[in-house]
Amino acid sequence: MSELIEILGCRYPVIQGPIGTFNSPEMVAAVSEAGAFGMLALGFISHPDEVKKLVDEVRKLTDKPFGANIMLINPHNEKILETLAGAGVKTVTTSVGSPKDIYPLIHDLGMKGIHVILALQHAIRAVTAGADALVVVGSEAGGLRSLNSESSTMVLVPLVCDHVKVPVVAAGGISDSRGYKAAFALGAQGVQVGTRFLASSESPVSEQWKKAIVECPDGGTDLIPSGSMRTAERILLTPWIKQKMADPDVKNIAAELDRNPAATGNYERAAFGAGQVSARISHILPVKAIIEEMVS
Ligand SMILES: Cc1cc2nc3c(=O)[nH]c(=O)nc-3n(C[C@H](O)[C@H](O)[C@H](O)COP(=O)(O)O)c2cc1C
Repeated sequence: MSELIEILGCRYPVIQGPIGTFNSPEMVAAVSEAGAFGMLALGFISHPDEVKKLVDEVRKLTDKPFGANIMLINPHNEKILETLAGAGVKTVTTSVGSPKDIYPLIHDLGMKGIHVILALQHAIRAVTAGADALVVVGSEAGGLRSLNSESSTMVLVPLVCDHVKVPVVAAGGISDSRGYKAAFALGAQGVQVGTRFLASSESPVSEQWKKAIVECPDGGTDLIPSGSMRTAERILLTPWIKQKMADPDVKNIAAELDRNPAATGNYERAAFGAGQVSARISHILPVKAIIEEMVS
């Protein structure tokens, strides 16, 4: 049994990538039931009651292990972690922020923590802070990135593996059995999968979002600076976004994006986050089928 599997407690070393504010207990349970590691996304949640409710909903659907992601910029993490530990969640991932102060608490609560990193220097800092494992996310991934020049999964995963002793999980660009096998060849003990699960039958995002992933051509995503923070977000290049990018007078596209298009039903300005691997995704499939093919 690999060290990562010992930490996760599931059958396959495949972690469901957390997706911002999108939580579906049904999807988390379906991922765990299929033998992988379901993951709640708690980065934007502030109240412990909300955490307890989500965990209870997943528990009603599966007795298999699952975890939760917290963002380290969230000031409510102490209470969230206590709630998770009290509810029997054994493993969390930590992202977006410094891991320096949180790992003693994670360990005092009897939990394991896996820190998500985008660069080698962050990997070394996270291990020093006490992270039990790392999710190493290459630049092709969907989600939040830095504005620094960043390395792809192919470069970053073996680079980090050569510098740390904790288990490494590869993320960014992995959607099928070929990517899964490649991750092991690069030195990782498992994978974290975001975009492929976003375009699954159980995913709670809109049908418009899933369709945009399935229709994404090669080169159909780009990084859009987030405005005030020194970060950028990888999103699908819709016709509206392409038009804005070509307009030299538009300085802050992120500020004009519609974060809740479902409210109006108008998806023209929607921000559909997704990774470069969207170009390789041609069907919306149940998570069980995705996982079975991946580990086959
Ligand atoms: C729309 C979107 C939102 C995301 N939100 C989070 C998040 O809340 N926390 C986090 O750690 N990672 C987040 N990620 C990153 C994913 O969990 C995962 O690491 C990444 O998608 C892997 O790359 P892939 O998209 O190529 O599979 C997000 C990714 C996307 C596409």
